[in-house]
Amino acid sequence: MVEGSQIFSAHVIASFFLLILCDIVCGTDNDISCLKSVKSELQDPYNYLHSWDFDNRTEGYICKFTGVECWHPDENRVLNLKLSNMGLKGEFPRGIKNCSSMTGLDFSFNSLSQAIPADISTLLTFVTSLDLSSNDFTGEIPASLANCSYLNNLRLDQNQLTGQIPANLSQLPRLKLFSVTNNLLTGPVPPFKKGLVPAENYANNSGLCGFPLPVCQAKSAKSNTAVIAAAAVGGVTAAALGLGIGMFFYVRRISYRKKEEDPEGNKWARSLKGTKTTKVSMFEKAISKMNLSDLMKATNNFSKNNIIGSGRSGTVYKAVLPDGTSLMVKRLQESQHSEKDFMSEMAILGNVKHRNLVPLLGFCLAKRERLLVYKNMPNGTLHDQLHPDAGVCTMDWPLRLKIAIGAAKGLAWLHHSCNPRIIHRNISSKCILLDIDFEPKISDFGLARLMNPIDTHLSTFVNGEFGDLGYVAPEYTKTLVATLKGDVYSFGTVLLELVTGERPTHVAEAPETFKGNLVEWISQQSSNAKLHDVIDESLVGNGVDQELFQFLKVACNCVTEMPKERPTMFEVYQLLRAIGMSYNFTTEDEIMLPVDIGDDDNIVELIVARDGHD
Ligand SMILES: *[C@@H]1O[C@H](CO)[C@@H](O)[C@H](O)[C@H]1NC(C)=O
Ligand SMILES: *[C@@H]1O[C@H](CO)[C@@H](O)[C@H](O)[C@H]1NC(C)=O
Ligand SMILES: *[C@@H]1O[C@H](CO)[C@@H](O)[C@H](O)[C@H]1NC(C)=O
Ligand SMILES: *[C@@H]1O[C@H](CO)[C@@H](O)[C@H](O)[C@H]1NC(C)=O
Ligand SMILES: *[C@@H]1O[C@H](CO)[C@@H](O)[C@H](O)[C@H]1NC(C)=O
Repeated sequence: MVEGSQIFSAHVIASFFLLILCDIVCGTDNDISCLKSVKSELQDPYNYLHSWDFDNRTEGYICKFTGVECWHPDENRVLNLKLSNMGLKGEFPRGIKNCSSMTGLDFSFNSLSQAIPADISTLLTFVTSLDLSSNDFTGEIPASLANCSYLNNLRLDQNQLTGQIPANLSQLPRLKLFSVTNNLLTGPVPPFKKGLVPAENYANNSGLCGFPLPVCQAKSAKSNTAVIAAAAVGGVTAAALGLGIGMFFYVRRISYRKKEEDPEGNKWARSLKGTKTTKVSMFEKAISKMNLSDLMKATNNFSKNNIIGSGRSGTVYKAVLPDGTSLMVKRLQESQHSEKDFMSEMAILGNVKHRNLVPLLGFCLAKRERLLVYKNMPNGTLHDQLHPDAGVCTMDWPLRLKIAIGAAKGLAWLHHSCNPRIIHRNISSKCILLDIDFEPKISDFGLARLMNPIDTHLSTFVNGEFGDLGYVAPEYTKTLVATLKGDVYSFGTVLLELVTGERPTHVAEAPETFKGNLVEWISQQSSNAKLHDVIDESLVGNGVDQELFQFLKVACNCVTEMPKERPTMFEVYQLLRAIGMSYNFTTEDEIMLPVDIGDDDNIVELIVARDGHD
């Protein structure tokens, strides 16, 4: 037994180093092989791609290639490929499939020919912008484009495309631009939402018809009804899809909670029999050797009674060790990520330490389960303190301000001082935990990358829980890109929650007729007099109104619609700290130094998945 676990841990340690090494040297082999095959599949008569030198293996080397934009300049992971007007010839390069995190592809003004691949949606899963205009593509527009559900812009102008435009392109939930001028297309145009695609985007084709073009002639009434029915269904599905994707984080959580209520809920724990001697790998010496069986004992076999929370990344159990130490064990939501990905994330997260972050103490991998061990936070979540099940919130202003400042500091540190910088992507009052002294600690950072690739859980969505949508930045429902400024927005809603005492999703103060969320409610209260009304009554009139207003202003800046206009987390922290100056709860020696403020817009991550699919 003991030998077994030693072998296991030796294996773990060995693979750690291999992985970390591999992540640097060959972690994104797929994107490299993608570009290699693009280069070899295309003819490049003017030698525009000569800078694509695959022998120079410096870190992020492909990011300097002509036309290649990476997610991050030091990581060989392609964000956009822009190969416009280079005289390129050949068929659509299928090897592009390996650029699995790519969101933009521009092949316009070249001489690519033959058909656009029928299975293009499997080659470009996450594409938001696709420009194939001004080439020599022939054949039909593939119907599978309707499965590229993140498409915002689709340009196919100036080719020799024939046949009908697939009707269910109108079901693309995010489509903003669609243009097919100067082709040989015929038949009815898709039933797009009114005003989305103007008539000129269909100009110069062989025979297109239907709104906004002249009505189609010589069609039987039957097929017209079919089109109308398809349009109606299409509209509904598109709306559902759009929202469903926007909210899939939250929906996952709900569906998960339902699973836990199932009497068979912890069947998974029983299925771990035989792996109980699996060692829990610890980052800190504080808690010495532990096995899975110790965790099981400490959580009462992961009993439902030990559940203290559930978030979109998984369920949290309270664990009490024989010596009285209490811990939190998070069971990650089933993850399709490989052991390799998991281990390398753990290697990073184990080193992320800050006073305002919940420390990850260790982790355990047993069969398909991934368990994370954290220090327990005795005062629970900020959410539960602000919105107690019974009675009213008793948190006074200095306490709320202290929590805001500490949480801002933790998040600013993740954004600006941590290496690699971490986008949290799920900030809410539920992930801000409070220790024995009510010092705030942010939890759940870094886990989003371990989540499953997209699964929209439409059915759950349709059952209707609009859940925590109140925290999500408006741009997230339109693009797939998680940004630092998206976190700032979510943090702003937490600040609003602190100063108004309202929930972000439902405003108790508002009249019944008001159906919006907290941010929308605040933005309606234009005058200062009205703004005064939104502040939590228990806070006003205590001589701190000036601070309350300053605080509210910071919050409102964070939730402005345009990401660029939002402050950085470092600025938010500085502003809040200035408001809290007179209370002496900041210790000067802890002021963080921003490592690199300024290029925030370059720090982005694909929301749906780290790698698309493995
Ligand atoms: C994708 O990349 C892998 C290696 O990274 C390679 O084996 C595979 O053939 C590539 N697929 C395509 C379609 O080029
Ligand atoms: C590799 O690429 C880097 C950055 O473009 C460049 O500075 C370096 O000289 C190249 N090395 C070789 C051996 O070509
Ligand atoms: C689109 O995706 C669905 C579900 O994955 C699949 O059943 C369907 O065949 C796809 N349609 C096309 C045209 O590829
Ligand atoms: C397109 O519509 C047809 C029926 O009109 C349907 O069978 C097919 O699955 C749809 N494809 C997509 C990608 O939605
Ligand atoms: C349509 O074709 C005509 C003649 O080739 C050209 O002048 C016009 O610009 C084209 N219209 C569009 C919208 O491309």
